[in-house]
Amino acid sequence: MPATNRRITFARSPRGLPTPADFGADEAPIPVPGPGQFLSRTVYLSLDPYYRNVMKNSPIYAERLAPGDVMIGETVAQVLESHHPGFAVGDHVAVRNGWQQFALSTGEGVRRLDPAVAPLSTALGVLGMPGLTGWAGMVHLGEPLPGQTVVVSACTGPVGSTAGQVARKMGARVVGVAGSVEKCDYAVRELGYAACVNYKDGDLAAKLKDACPRGIDVYFDNAGGETLATVLRQLALGARVVLCGMIEAYSMDEPPPGPPLGSVVGARASLKGLVVYDHLHRFAEMNRVVSGWIREGSFRYREDVTEGLACAPEAFCRLMRGGNFGKALVKVAPESL
Ligand SMILES: NC(=O)c1ccc[n+]([C@@H]2O[C@H](COP(=O)([O-])OP(=O)(O)OC[C@H]3O[C@@H](n4cnc5c(N)ncnc54)[C@H](OP(=O)(O)O)[C@@H]3O)[C@@H](O)[C@H]2O)c1
Repeated sequence: MPATNRRITFARSPRGLPTPADFGADEAPIPVPGPGQFLSRTVYLSLDPYYRNVMKNSPIYAERLAPGDVMIGETVAQVLESHHPGFAVGDHVAVRNGWQQFALSTGEGVRRLDPAVAPLSTALGVLGMPGLTGWAGMVHLGEPLPGQTVVVSACTGPVGSTAGQVARKMGARVVGVAGSVEKCDYAVRELGYAACVNYKDGDLAAKLKDACPRGIDVYFDNAGGETLATVLRQLALGARVVLCGMIEAYSMDEPPPGPPLGSVVGARASLKGLVVYDHLHRFAEMNRVVSGWIREGSFRYREDVTEGLACAPEAFCRLMRGGNFGKALVKVAPESL
């Protein structure tokens, strides 16, 4: 038993990709549990991409880091001393000890682990938060149907490999995207994907097209950036896109160009495509309801009418400059003679 608690601390927000200089280290006394607390020793520390976002104090996360704070993180630990009725000495737990050898816990949010059920380390990966992410995102948001084509990026990581294999179990044809030949071989041989594209090998678009000739029905996005942009151009009709993570942006000092998709994730929002022609069968219903509202005075509309066909070009240009106020129309001739 060491005499002190070795800790890795947060030193500063990284510029670009993190470097060891962004972290510090210190030693502190091993804490003593008070009433309702237990002391545990860290066995496994989970390393998760989102720590990079916490290191820039992204508002998406509740956790905040100031210089000198112990780095946050989930761990598997073993209880050493307990004044908590729910946890006994020797118990293994999944607990947020952070990057340190020892920590106290009140038991809140702690999961007890049974090493007989699964290796302890899996509580941080496939049977932990990443596994749940892949499972829930595929089953409840991706919802692939048998035979549909599902693409998963970062497809060999804990989130991606769970999402991909769950989709396979649901009867989908899974195509992975990964960053090396070794990862792609593993994805096909071990994870049972139909194909895997190495995006670092160039021409992702053409390779995806080969692997997904009928388009992509579900995309489970762990990467963002170029991979997302490329996949979006190959979606099949009615496709679902699950925005899970955008690791490519985490180490950028400026937000990437384009709409802030991280906000979509944070808000648990869905983006759906609309084409009015799919809803033509609702035309009569819309007309009946809205014209009724107009007649009873509970619904307003406004028109911006330009007189004379000759003025149409200018009126159109004004519309495209945003200069119209209401439905832009050109009055070409009297309503009746
Ligand atoms: N929404 C949620 O609630 C939630 C929960 C957990 C995790 N996540 C997100 O899910 C994603 C996967 O997490 P994970 O824990 O399973 O991680 P992971 O896949 O083990 O690790 C990250 C992987 O991302 C890939 N990657 C793609 N573009 C990258 C880039 N520009 N820089 C670095 N790596 C890049 C790399 O794999 P390749 O070489 O194969 O590209 C890398 O190995 C992350 O974006 C994470 O933030 C979201």
